[in-house]
Amino acid sequence: MQAIEKIIILDFGSQYTQLIARRIREAGVYSEIQPCTIACQELKKLQPEALILSGGPASVCDPDSPKLDPGILDLGLPVLGICYGMQYLALNFGGRVVPAQDREYGRVELTLTRDSLLWNGIKQEGPLQAWMSHGDKVLELPPGFSSIGGTPQVEAAAMANPEKKIYGLQFHPEVSHTEEGSQILRNFLFEVVGLQGNWNMASFVDDLLLRLPETVGDRQVVCGLSGGIDSTVVSALLHKAVGKQLHCIFVDNGLLRAGEGREVIQYLQKHFELNLHHVQARELFLSQLEGVEDPEKKRKIIGATFIEVFEQEARKIPGVNFLAQGTLYPDVIESVSFKGPSAVIKSHHNVGGLPEKMQLKLVEPLRELFKDEVRKVAVELGMPDFLVWRHPFPGPGLAIRIIGEVTAERLEILRKADKIVHNELMASGWYYKIWQGFAVLLPLKTVGVMGDERTYEHVIALRLVDSKDAMTADWSRLPPEVLAQISNRIINEVKGVNRVVLDISSKPPSTIEWE
Ligand code: XMP
Repeated sequence: MQAIEKIIILDFGSQYTQLIARRIREAGVYSEIQPCTIACQELKKLQPEALILSGGPASVCDPDSPKLDPGILDLGLPVLGICYGMQYLALNFGGRVVPAQDREYGRVELTLTRDSLLWNGIKQEGPLQAWMSHGDKVLELPPGFSSIGGTPQVEAAAMANPEKKIYGLQFHPEVSHTEEGSQILRNFLFEVVGLQGNWNMASFVDDLLLRLPETVGDRQVVCGLSGGIDSTVVSALLHKAVGKQLHCIFVDNGLLRAGEGREVIQYLQKHFELNLHHVQARELFLSQLEGVEDPEKKRKIIGATFIEVFEQEARKIPGVNFLAQGTLYPDVIESVSFKGPSAVIKSHHNVGGLPEKMQLKLVEPLRELFKDEVRKVAVELGMPDFLVWRHPFPGPGLAIRIIGEVTAERLEILRKADKIVHNELMASGWYYKIWQGFAVLLPLKTVGVMGDERTYEHVIALRLVDSKDAMTADWSRLPPEVLAQISNRIINEVKGVNRVVLDISSKPPSTIEWE
C-alpha cells in the first residue's frame, strides 16, 4: 500500500491553524497539527514530508516568545512559515525582524515582485488582495533568501530560499479573503515539496480497516450508538473491521425525537447485522429530571444517568476491553493546540470518566477528521443521504428544547410539533439546505381564539439556522410560504399549542440551542 504523504503544521497559537489543516487536506494531502513545543525526536517519528509554521499572537521580538526545538529546522525538510512562522524563520536564519510602525490588519494589496514556484499558475495583472494580521515585519532578509512579494507597507511580505526549500509569507494564504491563497498552498505542496496529493477518503478508510483489527486484536469493543452521524460511522467502520466483536449500546432516554435513532438502527441492522443492545431507560431519565428547570442541572443529570445506564449494560458483555468513540479532530486540536501556560485540556463526550472506571482503552477512528470529512467517510461506506445529511441532535435531546421542567406531556407536545417541522422541511426541500431546524417549547401560555372559543395554550418557537461548523450561525431565510405551512400545521394539529414564533437571532451572541 502507498505510504500516506503527511504535512505537519506546527502551531504557534494562531486562530487560523485549523484552517491551514483544512486547506492542505482539501488539496489531497493529509495534514496534522502539533504544538510548536513538540520535541525534534517526536516530530521525526511522525515522518512528515514538510512543515508549515503557523501564525501566532506573540511577537518574535519578545524574548519569551514561543520557539521550536532547535533541531527541527536542521532536519532539512521543506518549510513554509506563515506570519509569525515567517518572522520566526527570518530571525532564525539570521535576518532582522522589527515591530512595524502601524499594525497591518485586514486586506492589503500584494504585488508579486519575483518569479517563484509559489506563484505558479497565478496571473499577475495587478496586485492580489491578501489578508494580513501582524505587528512585526521582516526588515532584513537572512542570507540566501530573497523577497518575492511586497505590500505598500512591507517590502518583504513573502520570502524564498528555493535551494533550501524554505519559504515565508507575511499574509495568510489559508484565509478565504486571500486571493489565490489555496493555489499558493498547493504550489508549496506540489511544486516545492513535490507531493502527489493522493490522500482521499477511500485511502483513509482502507488504511483504517487495516489498522483497526490490529488495535483491537481478539478483544470486545463497546460503542454508544446515538443515531447521529459520528457514532453511526464509528459503528459501521468497526463492524467492517472487527465484525461481531463490536457491541453497540443504544440508550433510549425518552428524550429523542419522534423516530430518532429508529431509522439508523434499522439501516445498520439491515446492512451490518450489528450486535445491538437496546436499553429502554425512559422512566429512569424522566424521574431523574422531575422538578428540574435549570439547563445546566438538566445536562448534568442526563450525562450522569447515561453513564450509569451505559456502564450497567457494558458490564454484561464479557471480555470488553475497548470503548469506541466518535471524537473528531476539532476536539483533539483543542487539547494539542499551543496556548501557552494556560492550556486547557477539554474533556469530551458523554461517557466522560467511564474509560477509567471500567479500565477501557479508547478507540477513536475519527479523531483525525473534520465533520465534513466524516460525512465523506459515510458516503464512502455507502450510507444513504438521510443518514449522511442528518441534522445534528444534541446528547441531552429534547430536554434542552423544553424550556423549564421536562414532563411526559410537554415531551409529547414538542415531539409532535418537531415532527411537523421536520416533515415540512423535507417536503419543501429545505431540510438539506440548512444546518439545523427544530422546534422549542416555551414555558409560557398565551391567549388565542379557536372557533368561537378563547384558548390559553403553549407557544412553540422555530429555530432554523445556517452554519458551516456550528461555531457561528445565522437564522435561515426560509420562504414565508414554508414558514406559514409549518405554523398552520402546528397550531391545527398539535393539541395544546396556539402560537408559533420564529427565532431570528444569530450565533453569536445567541446559541443554536435555547439551553
Ligand atoms: P450551541 O447551542 O452551543 O450548539 O450553539 C452548537 C451545536 O452543538 C449541538 N449541541 C450539542 N451536541 N451535546 C451534543 O452532542 C450537547 O450537549 C450539545 N449542545 C449543543 C447543537 O445542536 C448545535 O448543532
